Amino acid sequence: MKFNLNSFLLATSTALDHAEEEIMHITTHHSKRCAYISLRIGIELGLSEEECFDLCSLALMHDNGVTQAFYNQNWLEAGEKKSLEIMEKLVDHCKIGEKNVRNFPFLTSPKNVILYHHEYLNGSGLYGLEEGDIPIMSQVICFADDIDMKFDLLDSSITALNGINTYAKENKGNLYHEEIVEAFLRLSSKISFWRDLNDENILNSVERYLPVIDSTIELKDLLSISSVFSNIIDSKSKFTALHSNELTSKAKMVTEYFGWDERKSVFFQVAANLHDIGKLSTPRSILEKNGPLSKSEFEIVKEHAYLAHMILKAIDGFEQIHEWASAHHERNDGSGYPFGMKEEELSFEAKILACLDMYQALVETRPYRAAMSHENAMIVIYEQVPRNLFEEAIVDLIAEIFAAEAA
Ligand SMILES: [Fe+2]
Ligand SMILES: [Fe+2]
Ligand SMILES: [Fe+2]
Ligand SMILES: [Fe+2]
Repeated sequence: MKFNLNSFLLATSTALDHAEEEIMHITTHHSKRCAYISLRIGIELGLSEEECFDLCSLALMHDNGVTQAFYNQNWLEAGEKKSLEIMEKLVDHCKIGEKNVRNFPFLTSPKNVILYHHEYLNGSGLYGLEEGDIPIMSQVICFADDIDMKFDLLDSSITALNGINTYAKENKGNLYHEEIVEAFLRLSSKISFWRDLNDENILNSVERYLPVIDSTIELKDLLSISSVFSNIIDSKSKFTALHSNELTSKAKMVTEYFGWDERKSVFFQVAANLHDIGKLSTPRSILEKNGPLSKSEFEIVKEHAYLAHMILKAIDGFEQIHEWASAHHERNDGSGYPFGMKEEELSFEAKILACLDMYQALVETRPYRAAMSHENAMIVIYEQVPRNLFEEAIVDLIAEIFAAEAA
């Protein structure tokens, strides 16, 4: 199928950034700003269109390993911790991030760009690599990442710009490659470069400089990219550590039961992998609350379905995946969210996925209850039928397909 990796990553970066905000205290659109700065520097350096395309994808994904590296770590809340422990976690986010993108359909086979995105020319980075050993794309991303972390790039006052330019010059040839700093200083002299970074412009700005490249993807590769995201989503909380992955395995069993063709089967599994992508923006304190949620907390939880809708709607070729995944909390009587869609507006596949999601949640442990058996989960789901939340025929299917597995 036709697939533009950058259009996919630009859409999902909103959710990834939310997850990192909680851990790294980055600001909104951090990865898009890194992608924009990297892309502009890449073009200045004379990288090919294909290299610039890959550079943008890698910059968008540069910290994708953060959520998994810091999984279940309370060091942030705990305050002071040994710096060695933090350093190990930082190295882990490079390793995990690199592994996650290993099977992405890049155009130029870039290697170890994310692994070495915290290396400095003088050897003072996480792995102590020096100049010639650091991939050029890693060097560009490292520079873009650093200036976005150290400075408020949305403040384009003369004083602020002087501060950034001075920092770049002072570290030229020391931390950062001379050509990278010089390319940046040429860009920095243009007012448009800074305006492009504004929140309301940033998405458009990246798209404007991205080379237009038509690419296609094998269905199995699409499934493996979506699995990377389901692993990141699942790592957000120990209680949902397997939720998206397990849902996808069950979704696969559903597709086999119906004998759907490969395309429909993969789309259904991708929908399962990504259905909770919006949870990356739900605070962990709510996901792990040991007790019933307050009304306002539940309102925050509901946001995740709307965010999934916004993200998936923006991806070309994802129309069906979007329809199925973003309706996973809709219910037949219109009492679901985010749209309150009714029975007749929901497709058969969306209804199955919604029911399957509830089944999966019930057979998992939650902070306030133990995991249920298949039988008990089915009792709870059958209770939804007279209330017109799910239809009986769909619930019967779930009961039938998973009874054998549970036995
Ligand atoms: Fe990083
Ligand atoms: Fe970063
Ligand atoms: Fe959900
Ligand atoms: Fe879910």
